[in-house]
Amino acid sequence: MLHKPVLLAETIQLLNVQPHGVYVDATLGSGGHTREILNRLGPEGRVVGIDRDQEALERVERDLRDPRLLTLHTSFSRMARALREKGIQEVDGVIMDLGVSMEQLKDPERGFSFHSDARLDMRMDKTQRLTAEEIVNRWSQQKIERIIREYGEERYARPIAKAIIDERKKGPIYSCRQLAEVVQRIKRKRTRIHPATKTFQALRIAVNNELEELQKGLENSLEMLKKGGRLCVISYHSLEDRIVKRFFVDTEKKGLIKRLTKKPLLPTKEEIRDNPSARSAKLRGGERI
Ligand SMILES: C[S@@+](CC[C@H](N)C(=O)[O-])C[C@H]1O[C@@H](n2cnc3c(N)ncnc32)[C@H](O)[C@@H]1O
Repeated sequence: MLHKPVLLAETIQLLNVQPHGVYVDATLGSGGHTREILNRLGPEGRVVGIDRDQEALERVERDLRDPRLLTLHTSFSRMARALREKGIQEVDGVIMDLGVSMEQLKDPERGFSFHSDARLDMRMDKTQRLTAEEIVNRWSQQKIERIIREYGEERYARPIAKAIIDERKKGPIYSCRQLAEVVQRIKRKRTRIHPATKTFQALRIAVNNELEELQKGLENSLEMLKKGGRLCVISYHSLEDRIVKRFFVDTEKKGLIKRLTKKPLLPTKEEIRDNPSARSAKLRGGERI
């Protein structure tokens, strides 16, 4: 397993796993959090593992082979309906660990990484039609600029969008490396992070409609939680964290949730040393009242 579960002990504690409980892992990924929940469940307990990536579900099923785990191929924005279709009306806890897994990131075929010669894909769900290649080669300059600015929080959104349009006049931009080089020509300054990081983040968010998904996923989770049930969310960048924070503040005001974390829980220095991809993680939690 490539992916190391982030903030594992903190999340499991916040989730307050009960042996007979029914839990939803809305982002099954490599099953790191699910495995730990299963360890705390008795024979009656259940985990429903959701992912929009069919390969992830198959991998975890194969690895865990646990009859208490039910996997569902869907987006977490449609979680409530999918659970009801399986006869599950309410749950004791939901965990959402946002973004992509290491398996997805490191698979050159998936097109998430700027180091790869793979086609610009970036779909978490391979059955979806929209790809990063389509955005980069077909969308207007204005639309590309807007997503790079809004989803990438990139200062150089305008010149990058223009460079993309200029490049594609010469021929289609197919590969991740090709796009990274276009961005690099605009952002020449050496920085600790790769110059194309923000542009790639923006494309990934747009391809997977991540922010809208998140808002709906949070609402779906609230709908399914029983009284006393807990929702734990790990976010990795400020756009996500803003949505999560606002959701908990708003639902607390409405008397639906009690926040369990006024300030988000962060990884320790040791965790970041062992797993650098945990460095920007923030965990927030709330209890349905
Ligand atoms: C960071 S990984 C989760 C890792 C997991 N917690 C573990 O420890 O192995 C995020 C996973 O969520 C999935 N995902 C992201 N957005 C989703 C959505 N809207 N609906 C369903 N799954 C989603 C991704 O496909 C990916 O497999």
